[in-house]
Amino acid sequence: MRRPIIAGNWKLHKKTVEALELAREIVRLTEDCTDTEIIVAPSFTVLGKVSEALSGSRISVAGQDCFWQEEGAFTGEVSPGMLLDAGCTHVIIGHSERRQHFGDTDATVNRKTKAALLSGLSVIVCIGETLQEREAGETLSVIERQVRGGLQDICARDIRKIVIAYEPVWAIGTGKTATDVQAQEVHSFIRTIVSRLYSPTDSDTVRILYGGSVKPDNIRGLMSCPDIDGALVGGASLSATSFSSIIRNSK
Ligand code: PGA
Repeated sequence: MRRPIIAGNWKLHKKTVEALELAREIVRLTEDCTDTEIIVAPSFTVLGKVSEALSGSRISVAGQDCFWQEEGAFTGEVSPGMLLDAGCTHVIIGHSERRQHFGDTDATVNRKTKAALLSGLSVIVCIGETLQEREAGETLSVIERQVRGGLQDICARDIRKIVIAYEPVWAIGTGKTATDVQAQEVHSFIRTIVSRLYSPTDSDTVRILYGGSVKPDNIRGLMSCPDIDGALVGGASLSATSFSSIIRNSK
């Protein structure tokens, strides 16, 4: 049995007051949702405060990215140890916005993932094809390259601390969700790659989230797919009401 995860990626939204309000409201609205693991990823500047506000709740906190060095002359970067220090248990690595706008590649995703694992964080590794790649029939080859590249040299023990998020780039923030069939096809393919790289047991236990315009009204269909174990939610995670409805509908 894979426990569902609903993770909210707040991206570049919410300063202290709104972030704390959102965090507290999510706690209030999900007190009875014990079947689902809940994660929120606020911006770096509010991580510490949100972690404090959530301490004692069942909600975990994630960074939206991290660097692979623990310290040094790397202006503007945040290390895995700093995320831990701010109360994070997880980090999102390789989000398509990082790949599109900030130069993340499969190689840097791999370095960041390894560094985060070494420090004890769990990692949500994001992958997904662009519209152009899908239309050219390259979806599965892109996914295979991203999974193999992102997980390169990561040992079997560490794969248990990894969650994979499949987020088709064309579905992020566009209101276009992949159909359940499109998402299931890719999720099942990812599981096959994990089985080849690790073992059938690891492929059975690894949790694979879908991301891209997930809303309270499409989560049920997605969750009914056998290989979809939850969601990474952007826009709809910025309101406690819609985020908690997604959590409720994810069972
Ligand atoms: P969206 O974002 O739900 O706003 O499409 C998803 C994501 O980027 O993780």
